[in-house]
Amino acid sequence: MQDWLKNTVFYEIYPQSFLDTNGDGIGDFKGIIEKLDYIKDLGCNAIWMNPCYDSPFMDAGYDVRDYNKCAQRYGTNEDLRALFEEAHKKEMYIILDLVPGHTSDQHAWFQMSCEPEHNEYTNRYIWTENLWDAPNDYRFVCGTTDHDGNYMVNFFSSQPALNYGFHEITHKWQLPVDHPDCMATREALKSIMKFWLDLGCDGFRVDMADSLVKNDDDKIATMALWKNITEEIHKEYPKAVLVSEWSCPRRALGCGFDVDFYLDHNGHGYHSLFRNIDENGQNKSFFSKEGKGDATSFIGEYMEDLKATADHGYISFITCNHDTPRMSKWLDERELKIAYATILTLPGVPFLYYGDEIGMPFREGLTSKEGGFSRTGTRTPMQWNTDKNCGFSSSETPYLPTGKPGETVCVQQEEKRQDSLYQMVKEIIACRHEYADLQADGSFSVLYVEKDKYPFIYQRGNLIVMVNPSSDCVEVEVCVKQVSRESIFKIGEVTLHDQKAKMGSQSFAIYKMN
Ligand code: GLC
Ligand code: CA
Repeated sequence: MQDWLKNTVFYEIYPQSFLDTNGDGIGDFKGIIEKLDYIKDLGCNAIWMNPCYDSPFMDAGYDVRDYNKCAQRYGTNEDLRALFEEAHKKEMYIILDLVPGHTSDQHAWFQMSCEPEHNEYTNRYIWTENLWDAPNDYRFVCGTTDHDGNYMVNFFSSQPALNYGFHEITHKWQLPVDHPDCMATREALKSIMKFWLDLGCDGFRVDMADSLVKNDDDKIATMALWKNITEEIHKEYPKAVLVSEWSCPRRALGCGFDVDFYLDHNGHGYHSLFRNIDENGQNKSFFSKEGKGDATSFIGEYMEDLKATADHGYISFITCNHDTPRMSKWLDERELKIAYATILTLPGVPFLYYGDEIGMPFREGLTSKEGGFSRTGTRTPMQWNTDKNCGFSSSETPYLPTGKPGETVCVQQEEKRQDSLYQMVKEIIACRHEYADLQADGSFSVLYVEKDKYPFIYQRGNLIVMVNPSSDCVEVEVCVKQVSRESIFKIGEVTLHDQKAKMGSQSFAIYKMN
């Protein structure tokens, strides 16, 4: 595990929507450079940037056409190098988004693979025996090329799956993982990683990391493949950080990733925390003030995962990402404060999604943009101020619409407003930087969690963190040593005295033990 992760808070940037400096309506590298101080001032010392490579943008850049070239709309490779350098000068880190599972169907490898004659790239992708062969248990695109066969896709039809081989071979056309052509795909991936690390990036967030080897239900071969890659990268680039989109920390951290996200779509108890609306529209999120949520299933899983992965890497909590509706869709400002304060005081490496610090809305009803579909409302431009397009761009046709300037939330106003969500985010991150107990490695144990009950109280090292998202006042006994009279951070009314915790409606506090 890399040392710099111990006290890191990431900021995720969707580059097309952050800041446009040349008026073409699309965010760019220069815009990110301009806002590094803003991000640092908020307390985030690392950035994850979504894909910035040459692409036809059928899936917002997760359809890579050239792995070694930046998309012109963001800037050149040299501009990106400048971004790395500027960040490093400010003691910040930047990780890129690596898309290993598939390319765009416009990638040169794929064009070669589509040729009817066998060549070096034929098996870089997965083709069936011939055009009439398309077993139902996989997703294929059929009959669109001169190659007599159908190709497997990983996500959208424009994203053919790269061939890292099959763990269990059930059809003649499936190659084993150690086939020279599959090994060549793996080596090509390593070269791409080294190319960007050499240019100065600090690591990668790895897209769909669990998807590489096919017919691999238990992920045995996928894990072995990653182990081979992560070992080589960590050996040659000891400070590089690898973050997986896997949402299975035991597997991901078990094969050399430094961090794995808990994500909403994998049915974790985690899912019940922030975005849990039942069929009747009732908000069952633990952080809803309605108080109908439950943190026990999350804690059950989390404690097991923590135990199983101790010393192997970190589990990461996110406020949101580019695939998920912003929490502000269901939670109001006070609810968000308590949710974020919790995320930012748990172990591991937290990620804040751009705009979440000001409670930017999830914008309903937008036409899909670049393969966003239901995710489009989460990807709208950062709202900086009350100028045109909320200060994002001077263009008449911004990447996506912002809210109406002056009527929607923006950084300029939230920085000034007392007690704003923005102020609170800044304060709790500062607290995390000040107290090592709150950081990635600080110990974690639960002091109070009961089925269908509030509050939730946990201990981080010498600190007690108390969370009551519900609108009810609650009182419980907790077995702790005497704490100092004053909390080191507080939202609402909280007291902790003589082992009695009293928490007012929608409150949160951190106490230090004497
Ligand atoms: C990941 C990305 C998502 C993308 C998909 C295909 O889940 O986060 O945005 O569409 O992979 O690459
Ligand atoms: Ca631009």
